[in-house]
Amino acid sequence: MINYEALFKISYGLYIVSSGSKDYGNGFISNTVFQVTSQPPKFAACCNKDNHTAEVIGSTGSFSVSMLHEDAAAGIIGTFGYKSGKEINKMEGMELKYGETGVPIVLNEAIAFLECRVVETIDVGTHLMFIGELVQAEVLDESLEPLTYLYYRRVKKGVAPKNAPTYVDKSKLEKKPAEGEYAKYECAACGFVYDEEKEGKKFDEMPDDWVCPVCGAEKDDFYKL
Ligand SMILES: Cc1cc2nc3c(=O)[nH]c(=O)nc-3n(C[C@H](O)[C@H](O)[C@H](O)COP(=O)(O)O)c2cc1C
Repeated sequence: MINYEALFKISYGLYIVSSGSKDYGNGFISNTVFQVTSQPPKFAACCNKDNHTAEVIGSTGSFSVSMLHEDAAAGIIGTFGYKSGKEINKMEGMELKYGETGVPIVLNEAIAFLECRVVETIDVGTHLMFIGELVQAEVLDESLEPLTYLYYRRVKKGVAPKNAPTYVDKSKLEKKPAEGEYAKYECAACGFVYDEEKEGKKFDEMPDDWVCPVCGAEKDDFYKL
């Protein structure tokens, strides 16, 4: 038996993992960045093979990790975590710094960053685990607390989309509303609320390919209020 609630007891942080060069950069939200050795310091970043950033890390051989703070604007998570660099230029308008390897480092909403050179890539199935040796690390703000995945889920009421390694199909967790009972569902990317009573249709009855009318996030990116 697998109790999926147990998987939420694992602690994670929340980061923007970026890659590229001065000419072109891209990044994605990740909760699966962690230190794997101390001498030399190496870090793992787990990236879905479908993420555009996987291609960019593969071709440039480096990545940066921007550590977000607890009050990070939802918009930055919406852009980097729910949209793909295949469709938009995520770095446009961002405050960037370039590392020793030339990798872009996102400074918006960040309290510290790491720059890593890829020394190994492990194929773990749906994801690639990039192992990077630390090139540079800096603290940007001592006054703010780092954003954890638990805080993002509990306080910010956020969820992880399908490409995240920690994605859990919500039907395995939630009770469906009883007959005649209305529920509301909020889009984790933009905050749009689907009100079953107002819409006259149960959220579960909406087709699987239905998307958020405001930001285009998938049905799975909504959570029950
Ligand atoms: C809270 C959260 C955690 C996520 N964690 C990961 C992760 O660890 N690995 C991953 O590959 N995708 C993760 N994602 C999904 C990617 O950020 C998302 O698929 C992104 O749109 C990919 O962008 P890209 O195609 O521009 O690279 C996460 C998203 C969110 C919102």
